[in-house]
Amino acid sequence: MPVQIIVGAQWGDEGKGKIVDHLSEHVDIVARYQGGANAGHTVVIGDKEYVLHLIPSGIFHENVTCVIGNGVVIDPIALLDEIRQLRELNIDITGRLLISHNAHLIMPYHKFLDSIREQTTEKIGTTGRGIGPAYIDKCMRVGIRIVDLLNRDVFAAKLKRNIEEKNQILSKIYGKTELDVDAIVTEYEEFDKKIDEYVTDSALYLNRALRDGRRILAEGAQGALLDVDHGTYPFVTSSNPTSGGACTGLGIPPTAITSVLGVVKAYSTRVGNGPFPTELENETGARLRETGGEYGATTGRPRRCGWLDAVSLRYSAMINGIRQIAVTKLDVLDDFDEVKVCIGYQYGGKLLKTFPTDIPSLNAIVPLYETFEGWKSPTSAITSYPALPPNARRYIDAMNALTGTEVHMISVGARRDQTIFVH
Ligand code: GDP
Ligand code: IMO
Ligand code: MG
Repeated sequence: MPVQIIVGAQWGDEGKGKIVDHLSEHVDIVARYQGGANAGHTVVIGDKEYVLHLIPSGIFHENVTCVIGNGVVIDPIALLDEIRQLRELNIDITGRLLISHNAHLIMPYHKFLDSIREQTTEKIGTTGRGIGPAYIDKCMRVGIRIVDLLNRDVFAAKLKRNIEEKNQILSKIYGKTELDVDAIVTEYEEFDKKIDEYVTDSALYLNRALRDGRRILAEGAQGALLDVDHGTYPFVTSSNPTSGGACTGLGIPPTAITSVLGVVKAYSTRVGNGPFPTELENETGARLRETGGEYGATTGRPRRCGWLDAVSLRYSAMINGIRQIAVTKLDVLDDFDEVKVCIGYQYGGKLLKTFPTDIPSLNAIVPLYETFEGWKSPTSAITSYPALPPNARRYIDAMNALTGTEVHMISVGARRDQTIFVH
């Protein structure tokens, strides 16, 4: 420690929620640094499953303080709903949930613009949570932040300007109905009252915590290949899930970061559109989907499935500075006769060993696979590395070698106890 970053190394849904929850046992603070309610992080405790969208996955540990950083875009409806659900579960979040006053708000028009853009332009297959339009406003310097709610006049003036502009776009480009300023002001004032107790200068809080030697986990949402700078642009999300995003999204210095743990699913999945070199649009892909329960935690959409891709993982490790990985869902492969890993991309008569980020190349490449014999025995009850079947260990060893990282943890089921520490 003091700051360990947990990043998704693929296209999201790697099992970050489970890993963050597990590692939270040994930290003081878990801080989410980007994204919004597009994320769906599942935590399974006993036989109960919880899906978090905005609140960090450390919330189930009563000694952990959870921070929603300035880099997150906050949807009031989703946040209040999550707070309510946690209260109903008798989870005391008083004093344990902090929200950055600099975080930007998702407004009703962001969701509206997100959905109509998806109908009229090239489909990204977004989650429809208003993420792209909210980050557009942030970069355009017209976004509305939590701190703006403090002053009704400032908030109403900013909102009015935004709505005038959005109404122009909506009516002229999309021929849609107009938005009502007063109704939105009233709705967000109600929200302000409800979240007031959580709002703070979270960068100051985190830097004081660093000074005091407290241990912090920075929780990423989505995954490296969905990063707006380093992913398969434009089929990406509108923020930086990669480790660099943790510093800007929380207001902590790079010098405070001690390690980056990549979360890697034992195979690959992707939700939404965009290139996916190892996708299996066949029975094997369908089998991975059914065995792995690969349906979106936020939208319920079936996830596209395929084999592990070591080329993209090497790229992800490089961009994020990942030295160690947590491999999840190894158990999903238990019954397969053979398991494959993509070790190179064949493209135009050449073998690429690095990850191209332009879409035509990614769509044209043909993966070159190495095949591993399956282990054909259940792993879900195994709690130590040596007890894994030899073929499963061979697969893990190959992940070490092919990705240039070290496997630190292996998850063999959704529950906390279904976790193996290798080192
Ligand atoms: P996240 O977005 O990265 O937090 O991942 P999601 O929660 O969207 O998706 C991961 C899914 O896999 C969830 O349903 C988890 O409960 C489940 N899961 C996590 N780890 C394991 C594992 O090792 N084995 C199995 N079978 N399921 C797992
Ligand atoms: P977690 O944190 C998987 C995908 C969407 C779409 C693209 C852009 O649970 O891993 P957006 O709504 O962000 O503008 O959509 O990104 N996407 C995710 N895919 N897991 C996620 O989050 C995702 N969040 C967004 O499917 O392709
Ligand atoms: Mg998810």
